[in-house]
Amino acid sequence: MLLSGCSGRHNWLSSAGEEAQTIEPLFWTVVAGAALIWTLVVGAAVFAHRAEAKPHREQQARRFIIWGGAVLPTVVVGALLIWGLFILRDLVADEGDLTVRVDGERWWWRVIYETPEGEVFTANEIRMPLGKTTLFRLTADDVIHSFWVPAMGGKMDMIPGRETKLTLTPTKLGSWGGLCAEYCGGAHALMRFDAVVMEPEAFDAWLQNESSPARITEGDPGWEVFLDEGCGACHTLRGTEAVGQVGPDLTHLASRERLGAGIYDMTPENMARWITDLDAMKPDIDMPAYPYLSGDRLDALVSFLMSLK
Ligand code: CUA
Repeated sequence: MLLSGCSGRHNWLSSAGEEAQTIEPLFWTVVAGAALIWTLVVGAAVFAHRAEAKPHREQQARRFIIWGGAVLPTVVVGALLIWGLFILRDLVADEGDLTVRVDGERWWWRVIYETPEGEVFTANEIRMPLGKTTLFRLTADDVIHSFWVPAMGGKMDMIPGRETKLTLTPTKLGSWGGLCAEYCGGAHALMRFDAVVMEPEAFDAWLQNESSPARITEGDPGWEVFLDEGCGACHTLRGTEAVGQVGPDLTHLASRERLGAGIYDMTPENMARWITDLDAMKPDIDMPAYPYLSGDRLDALVSFLMSLK
């Protein structure tokens, strides 16, 4: 079980970010210290069990308890706390090359890039330029969540009515796994996202595309189904009459790597199942399933959604 966190896209030992590299020595020091103390305690227990019982002087026993039981733990824990606070200071810097607001919802992520030209809304995927520091301003809608990209750095709670901050500075290209690390109800385990690290030029082009309105062909039969079924009451397609805020912004849905808040690959098959058989795909979420959609109407809706790039 312990080793399951040591490989793949959630590998917190891969040091894909400067912040993860800052935390790593603290982790190994705690592991080494804990191993040493465990050895000493078990050694003492074995020794006590085997040694011949002899009376102790009370003064000697008291001195051992005060130094070993009070002074030593206070010094060790105090030193770790101070070290940890210094590390925390680096992780919650007030400035970054780029600011992204992330709002934890049940059970997905509202993502807002702050650019000089204005806010760019997206959801369930975070893209970052390599080597630049991204400042995350985090909050939550109604319950506490926790924002965590294990490969890149520490996790940070997202608290309703408050803003917390976290910086991430990616050092490796790739798509890394992110997840909610605070139990937040039914679909907590399915509240994930992708953290994609790109070359700065590619990132700029991506952000430019994200900021543009949805590309819709008038008369597209899938667009008609989208409107008929009332999808726009909950979802936004920027530049159109679909302006719902309850669910994720879908303006460039198909440019994301995954569907359903980081849990399924973005394929037409998964999209069709998502619409018709949602209870099996992600139980407990607010979105209703549309099991009666089939045939041409379903195909049209799926190909419309898959065209939103
Ligand atoms: Cu959100 Cu757990």
